[in-house]
Amino acid sequence: DLYNFRLITPDTKVYGIIGKPVGHSKSPLIFNAAFKSVGLNAVYVHFLVDDVEMFFNTYSSPDFAGCSCTIPHKEVALKCMDEIDPIAKKIGAINNIVRQPDGGLIAFNTNYIGAISAIEDGLRGLNVVTVTSSAGSPLAGKLFVVLGAGGAGKSLAYGAAQKGARIIIANRTFKRAKELANKDGGQAMPLAEVENFYPEEGMVLANTTSVVMKPNIDATPIPKHALKHCCLVFDAIYTPGFYKKRKTLGRL
Ligand code: ATR
Repeated sequence: DLYNFRLITPDTKVYGIIGKPVGHSKSPLIFNAAFKSVGLNAVYVHFLVDDVEMFFNTYSSPDFAGCSCTIPHKEVALKCMDEIDPIAKKIGAINNIVRQPDGGLIAFNTNYIGAISAIEDGLRGLNVVTVTSSAGSPLAGKLFVVLGAGGAGKSLAYGAAQKGARIIIANRTFKRAKELANKDGGQAMPLAEVENFYPEEGMVLANTTSVVMKPNIDATPIPKHALKHCCLVFDAIYTPGFYKKRKTLGRL
């Protein structure tokens, strides 16, 4: 059951996730279960949002206590914040927004921590760890290819760079790949070239493009031949074909 609360009262705090599409997100399931288990009078819902600025102007009440932020708002929502955590500012993308006691909104990026920790755990579990830096991360020295340069791509590129990985950013809009690669000290590549790219053994590949959410789910940007060279593949999209499924139901 998605919503576990027994009763909504005037004191109930409202949280949610903003995005478009957003119906695929499992965040309500996770957060409502967490609220229940710690006994918080709070509810967490999906918000299908087109215009981020209008959304934050509308939901300015203290009862709207915070939200998560997903595709395609992770970058544009930055301009609606009163305060931005320094790392989120550096990354240029946010996914976590909290209302402060004075009513202002502060934003964080926790995507890079979650994704990079999962990838490190995967590498440790796979026993393919080659530690080459004093930081002790299994990503140190590894080739890390990020497909996409949107909010999620920026978060992963930042996280991987912090761990000492060698980064390649491949994106449909090459200019965005170049900007991100310059910022995080990596190389840029047009997404179309990934198909002909024969990378080195043992690399990590992360997809952050939303291509597979579109109706043509076969249009994966991940080249099959590259997979055999990877020791780990991370996909930020957990709902392939979401647009297609939702179109038949008439809602995103
Ligand atoms: P998120 O917050 O999940 O990263 P986003 O910021 O909207 O979402 O970024 C979406 C990413 O998917 C971008 O890298 C985008 O490429 P562009 O920078 O060229 O827009 C990529 N993307 C979306 N649709 C795509 C498609 N049909 N083919 C290739 N890349 C696509």
